[in-house]
Amino acid sequence: MPEIADRLKNVAVSASVAMTQKARDLAAQGIDVVGLSTGEPDFPTPEHATEAAYAAARAGDTRYPPTDGTPALRAAIQRKFLRDNELHYDVSQILTAGGAKQIIFNAMLATINPGDEVVIPTPSWISYADIVKFAGGTPVPVACYEENGFKPLPADLEAAITPHTKWLLLNYPSNPTGSVATYDELLALGQVLLRHPQVWILTDDIYEHLVYDGVKFWTLAQVEPRLYDRVLTVNGVSKAYSMTGWRLGFCGGPMPLIKAMSNVNTQNSGGVTTLTQAAAVAVLDGPQDLLQERAAIYRERRDYVLARLAATPGLSCHTPQGAFYLFVNMSNFIGKTSAGGRKIGSDADFVMALIEEQHVVTVQGAAYGMSPYFRLSYATSMERLQAGCDRIAAFCAGCR
Ligand SMILES: Cc1ncc(COP(=O)(O)O)c(C=O)c1O
Repeated sequence: MPEIADRLKNVAVSASVAMTQKARDLAAQGIDVVGLSTGEPDFPTPEHATEAAYAAARAGDTRYPPTDGTPALRAAIQRKFLRDNELHYDVSQILTAGGAKQIIFNAMLATINPGDEVVIPTPSWISYADIVKFAGGTPVPVACYEENGFKPLPADLEAAITPHTKWLLLNYPSNPTGSVATYDELLALGQVLLRHPQVWILTDDIYEHLVYDGVKFWTLAQVEPRLYDRVLTVNGVSKAYSMTGWRLGFCGGPMPLIKAMSNVNTQNSGGVTTLTQAAAVAVLDGPQDLLQERAAIYRERRDYVLARLAATPGLSCHTPQGAFYLFVNMSNFIGKTSAGGRKIGSDADFVMALIEEQHVVTVQGAAYGMSPYFRLSYATSMERLQAGCDRIAAFCAGCR
């Protein structure tokens, strides 16, 4: 057999994708599954985005696009950064790709040399560490504990940075914890970073518009302008506008970095689908009230699930102020046995028993680099959340 590349040997298949597949397999057997594992909004794409894509197709906008994005889209992104983040980027400092995921991938490929380290506050999105490994770098997790709201302490960040550190990856609101960094917290991290000029900083702001309780979203380059030349500000339309399938991510950053990423872009992509780019212009420039309307619905769901979890003996959960995830502490169940007879030695055992016995799909904290927790996504209807909470409560009550 011809062989697969060594560079893939350390790259895992995403646990949330594996769990979602497990849910699909059970559903295909006719089982009523409550899927709380996917990081995907359940709202439809805004109508004006679909209309714009349709109009673009009808107008013959179906040729190869400029690889880094159409002038219309880059200008719309420029307006978005100024409007939402008080960040001015020249259009030449703006780049698009097939999702924030591809932006992050291209940033790492464009910059990482063997031996380079990438500091990742953890728990963190599953893909960061794998993308870093794929690019030949070494992920360096910084543990962010529940008592600190799952956010890094400046001293811990300082301790993790070495002469080999190439990047720090920041993600607020966070997947998987929903934590949001305050202005002061970002400012404090910024002071550490100012002391280490060899470090780039990527801020993954994909959940920017999903914040609750009157909390204001801040991004690092806005809070500490002295870092502007070292920060890559990443965003996209997937989560804010429920456009996960359209595949559009974008970023603004310093010219040398954008140039290098553009070079990668031209080799691994022919640019983002023209119809998606037209749709993205429509949502970025269009009415923004839907963001608040949807955030209010997410907040209601969050409050409901938090209340149900609080009423479930053995579980506890910190109150997140963003994204649509809860990172639930299940340490009280370690060492117990489920009603179905499964020994719970880890969060992975808990999650597997919950799927098999109650058909509720979540993801183990270990997949995000911190145990014993599980991640629950509340981006689904109230009716499914009720069913999920009922079953989680029944599962927990059955553990001995
Ligand atoms: C933190 C984070 N960044 C990026 C992405 C991917 O975004 P996109 O759909 O734009 O590739 C996700 C998706 O789950 C995410 O949770």
